[in-house]
Amino acid sequence: MKLRETILPAMRPFSGPDELSALKEVIESGWWGKGPKVSEFEKEFAKMVGAKYAIAVTSNTQAQDLIFKAKGIKNCDVLSPTISFIATGIVPVWNQCKSILCDIDPFTCNIDPDDVKKQLTSNTKAIIAVNYAGVPADIDSIRECFDGLIIEDCALSCYTPGAGLKGDVAVWSFQAVKTMSSGDGGMITTDDKWLYETIRPMTNFGIPVSTYDRTKQPAITNKETSYVWDYEIDSIGYKAYMNDIQAALCLAQLRRLDEFLQTRRHIQKRYNDELSRYITIPAWSETAQFYSARVSKEDRNPLIAYLASKRIHTAVHFKPLHLHPILKQDREFPIADEEWLKFISLPCHAGMTDDDIDYVIYWVKNFFKNR
Ligand SMILES: Cc1ncc(COP(=O)(O)O)c(C=O)c1O
Repeated sequence: MKLRETILPAMRPFSGPDELSALKEVIESGWWGKGPKVSEFEKEFAKMVGAKYAIAVTSNTQAQDLIFKAKGIKNCDVLSPTISFIATGIVPVWNQCKSILCDIDPFTCNIDPDDVKKQLTSNTKAIIAVNYAGVPADIDSIRECFDGLIIEDCALSCYTPGAGLKGDVAVWSFQAVKTMSSGDGGMITTDDKWLYETIRPMTNFGIPVSTYDRTKQPAITNKETSYVWDYEIDSIGYKAYMNDIQAALCLAQLRRLDEFLQTRRHIQKRYNDELSRYITIPAWSETAQFYSARVSKEDRNPLIAYLASKRIHTAVHFKPLHLHPILKQDREFPIADEEWLKFISLPCHAGMTDDDIDYVIYWVKNFFKNR
């Protein structure tokens, strides 16, 4: 097989004329801040998820922080899985909480409900359950032993049917390499009216009605026009709202989400069908954000290096959070410590062609033939 001229990335965004015309429209509209595109995106996203409310924000991480602040989660224990991105481990620390990491289920790599039971204390006020690689976390089992706040982290499950409906509130990510993306962006979905009404103004410094909505309101202070310039702030707010440029991109991507997922399923099925002799295929690769396969510990790093030499980039999702000094824990993680050394995420993104897939399969097979 001839060597590629360019690198095949592990993950990358995908776009075309639809995204360009959505951006052109919003740029020409003269309204780039939070406005009609954000409202439209929130409505469409809530509908897809089946949630009553949606709030578009700047990132999933920011979404989690807002939830902590709205619910007054501070000076307490917060549980989350050690196999995750740093966001879920560090947001509790931002809020003066003890970030207690849990071990994982060896099959799904999601937070292990049995370990959750062991780590719970009388001071545990929240649990962040991550849907690892698209697979929904076992929130039903967690509910049996915990009646506090459960945040369902759907950064890696956009969109797995049913995702976002088991926790009290769900957080989503539209960061650059997510299945649908606006470079950066996030969403909060929930059925909790109080949470929705509390967080919405918090995304905009506590201003109760956005500038865009104040341009449309019936006059209150200025009877001559319909523009209301005045507002009153009675609670602490932050700057965390999504703008119309991001929302226009997200809307265009949302409308193509089925197409993106179809391509990802195709890639994942080809890997499953043709590589299962060499790799342990992921627990469930229907809508996964990444294709996290497992190989033996001895093969993992040599395979990463070998594929890189063939201009194929891979990734490791994730190095356990307890191995980062900032989140060091005073305990053992037998499952995560064993499994993460086997992780290798093969390239999987909506822009991949059949030639790209053949190329990856060829070199993975070739690596194992020569072992
Ligand atoms: C599980 C998980 N949670 C949260 C995040 C953070 O998302 P964002 O970049 O939108 O803040 C990520 C990012 O990859 C993630 O993988």
